[in-house]
Amino acid sequence: MRRKLAAGNWKMNGTSAALSELEALADAHTTASVDVLICPPAPLLHRAAEIVKKSAVTVGGQDCHAATSGAHTGDASGEMLKDAGATSVILGHSERRTDHNETDVVVCSKAEAAIAAGLTAIVCLGESLQQRETGVTLEIIGTQLAESVPNDATGDTLVIAYEPIWAIGTGKVPTLEQIGEVHTFLRTQLVARFGGETGSAIRLLYGGSVKPGNAAEIFAVENVDGALVGGASLKVADFSPIIAAL
Ligand code: G3P
Repeated sequence: MRRKLAAGNWKMNGTSAALSELEALADAHTTASVDVLICPPAPLLHRAAEIVKKSAVTVGGQDCHAATSGAHTGDASGEMLKDAGATSVILGHSERRTDHNETDVVVCSKAEAAIAAGLTAIVCLGESLQQRETGVTLEIIGTQLAESVPNDATGDTLVIAYEPIWAIGTGKVPTLEQIGEVHTFLRTQLVARFGGETGSAIRLLYGGSVKPGNAAEIFAVENVDGALVGGASLKVADFSPIIAAL
């Protein structure tokens, strides 16, 4: 039985003042029947980890370098995120693939490093609108999955987030059938590659305009084990009902 996961990606939003939202979230979730994760901007990570310490909420990073240390100005390693209190790290988000030219190979090496550092790697993949419209979605997703995910992944160390690029921050959401088709495809590919036990244990999140109003129907789709939420994770008033819908 895969444990459900509600993950919030704050992206480049929030200064110290935003931590009051995290405090409220932690207070509201001293225990939880699902996993709740918030990935704040890196400068807030350590303080965020202190805030959630006594709650069921955990915190994570939004990226890490593939190396453990060295001359990489501006970057942080998985080990550093772990040291700051992270349990997980988002990797290969489409915004990083676009803004920082991250390829599948780069994402894979980052995921390997994150897992080696003791973090859960949340590897993101998803098609563009043009790819969706030209009918190559599964081909694109299949390639991203094959090339972005390391061979040593397990159900504890890897989560896949399907985030269609055209659904991110747009209010547009794929149909439930489209979400189901991709998630079933991902599950089949994972089982084929990792075997039944590991392939069935890896959690699959949906991300892209998840809101309190659509969360329950998305979570009812087979092989959707939770969500990676952007905008609606910034306020407890929006994120709590999404967690409750799991
Ligand atoms: O990583 C989460 C994200 O890309 C989805 O963002 O704002 O559409 O929920 P949003």
